[in-house]
Amino acid sequence: MTSFVIAIDGPAAAGKGTLARRLARHYGLAFLDTGKLYRAVGLKLLLNNLLASDTLAAERAARSLRPEDLDMPGLRDEAVAEAASVVAAQPAVRAALLDFQKEFARKPPGGAKGAVLDGRDIGTVICPDAQAKLFVHASVEVRAQRRARELQDSGREAIYARVLQDMKDRDERDRSRGIAALKPAPDAFDLDTSDLDADEVFKRALTFIDQRNRAEA
Ligand code: CDP
Repeated sequence: MTSFVIAIDGPAAAGKGTLARRLARHYGLAFLDTGKLYRAVGLKLLLNNLLASDTLAAERAARSLRPEDLDMPGLRDEAVAEAASVVAAQPAVRAALLDFQKEFARKPPGGAKGAVLDGRDIGTVICPDAQAKLFVHASVEVRAQRRARELQDSGREAIYARVLQDMKDRDERDRSRGIAALKPAPDAFDLDTSDLDADEVFKRALTFIDQRNRAEA
C-alpha cells in the first residue's frame, strides 16, 4: 500500500507548521517538521563553537543526528534559524538528511497510513510524488509580525525590525541557493495566508486535499 503524503512548503512563519499539525491530526497521519533537522545541525555547531559555514563539521553533525536531537532546547532560537539556513545550503548536509525524510514519508512511524512533511523542498525534491502539495506563503511583513509575537510569547526577546531583516536575509538565502531552493512545485496549491486566520487556512487546505482525493479515487 502506498503511503498518503501531504507536502507543505513555504518560507518562514507562513503558517506551515500550524497547518501541517492540524492536517496530520485530521487525517490520522504522522508529522515531520523537516526544518527541525536543519535547526538541529545548526544548533550542534553553535554549541560546539563552530561556524555554520564549516562544511565538514556541518556534514559530520548531519550524519550523526539522532531522533532525540530534534527535541534539543534552543531549537526555536533565531540564531539557530540563521545557522540552519546556512547549513541547509550545503549539498553534503542535504544529502545526509535525505534518506531519513524519504523513509519517513514512505514508511511513516507508528503504523500511520501516511505523513505530512513541511519544509522548503518537500514537493520538489523529497516527495515529488506526494498526493497533495501546498505552497503556503504570506508577505514578509506579516510573517515577521507573527514570528516576533511567537518569540515574545515564548519569553524570548524580539524586536520587530530585527526579526524582519533576519527574515528577509533568510528568505533570500533559501530562494537563491543552488540546491533545493525554496520554490513552489508546479502542481502545488498556492495558499497566501497574509489575510487569513489559521481556521480559514485549514478549511481551504482541506477543500483542496479532498478534491485531490476524489480525483484520485
Ligand atoms: O520555522 P521556520 O519556518 O522559521 O524555519 P524552519 O522550517 O524551521 O527552517 C529553518 C531553515 O532550515 C530554513 O530557513 C531553511 O534554510 C532550512 N530548511 C530547508 O532548507 N529545507 C527544509 N525542508 C526545511 C528547512
